Amino acid sequence: MDKDFPLSGFSSAAVHAGHEQDPMYSHLTPIYAASTFVYDEAEQGMRRFSGKEEGYIYSRWGNPTFSEAERKIAALESYSITDKSGNPLELKALLQASGMAAITTLMLMNLKAGDKVLSHYSLYGGTEELITNLLPRLGIQSVIVDLRDLNKAEDAIKNDPAIKMLYLETPANPTIQCVDIEELTYIAKKNKLTVACDNTFATPYLQQPFQYGVDFVIHSTTKFLNGHGTSIGGVLIGRDIELMKSKAYGTLKTLGGNANPFDAFLLINGIKTLELRMERHCHNAMEVAHFLEQHPAVLKVNYNGLSEHPDHFVAMKQMKHPGAMMSFELKGGIQGGITFMNKLKMCTRTVSLGTCDTLLCHPASMTHYSVPREAREKYGITDGLIRMSVGIENVQDIIIDLDQALR
Ligand SMILES: Cc1ncc(COP(=O)(O)O)c(C=O)c1O
Repeated sequence: MDKDFPLSGFSSAAVHAGHEQDPMYSHLTPIYAASTFVYDEAEQGMRRFSGKEEGYIYSRWGNPTFSEAERKIAALESYSITDKSGNPLELKALLQASGMAAITTLMLMNLKAGDKVLSHYSLYGGTEELITNLLPRLGIQSVIVDLRDLNKAEDAIKNDPAIKMLYLETPANPTIQCVDIEELTYIAKKNKLTVACDNTFATPYLQQPFQYGVDFVIHSTTKFLNGHGTSIGGVLIGRDIELMKSKAYGTLKTLGGNANPFDAFLLINGIKTLELRMERHCHNAMEVAHFLEQHPAVLKVNYNGLSEHPDHFVAMKQMKHPGAMMSFELKGGIQGGITFMNKLKMCTRTVSLGTCDTLLCHPASMTHYSVPREAREKYGITDGLIRMSVGIENVQDIIIDLDQALR
């Protein structure tokens, strides 16, 4: 593709953005399975180490296969967004070994002992563990409030000058709750906070947090970006290019949470179908939610796409469609959940999300088995709650399978 060809559509960008002509004319960027890169002469090594010449040195520090994935993700997160001067927004992405590696890099590059991070009570378990158990050992504390209440968020920030970062995850794991990125970023920026957003559940096709002025976006690329459940990965994207090249890159290099070329290759090819997959995921999710809503065995459906959902307005304000994640509560409690899971015939019993197949998990008997009931119920994880990542199968088959398992 000509470098100056304007890619006007999201899928065109997903397919072509970030690709560079391979020196051996391979159609796809190959898996550069190399730990190190060579120099024509000693002086070239000197220029590369001193940063005077661009080029690869060592794969913990960067690799051509990672670079294509990084450029592609940066192009999608900034797709059709302009900066303050009206120019296309430029972002820099750093590919990492996992979503958790990206979040760790983000926290450690921005926070020091004495600082605090403000976040919401519904967060991915690993992130919660990081900010409430691991970072405090380094003197970095967290403040957790219900960020759906903007007054509470503003009060927390005003009352505690040690809060230096606002960390959002929307829609959040596992409750699928949504927080208002625009309003919260406005409050945080008034108070000079760094703002980061986990965009894993939405993907840049459905939601673009940089549009509202956030500083960083992270993803677990393991999920919808890869889309096929074939690799673990993460990415940290930032709008301050210099900061990304210096502090973020330096932190990643030192922590050693780099990606690997094979996973980067799988990710690049997965991303190409993101729009197609997300459209189908979301269409299926809406139909499945309507089916479950009227099913006699189901007590409650938590899906942002349903108008009675408390976060419906916020979800629709900032997301193109309400996503593919939902949960529903069975009337039969814990045994009802186990029986239902065992009866599934096509849908998959597993914990992850964002793959082509429909994935279901029963938190009370799986991910949250060891969490006391009162503790998990505080977060809405009741005995009969089932979490579902709706896949891209033909929706009638998903519904037939759920229906026979619910009987
Ligand atoms: C919203 C969210 N963020 C981050 C992560 C962590 O990603 P990874 O498992 O790739 O480290 C997950 C994992 O499920 C997640 O759901």
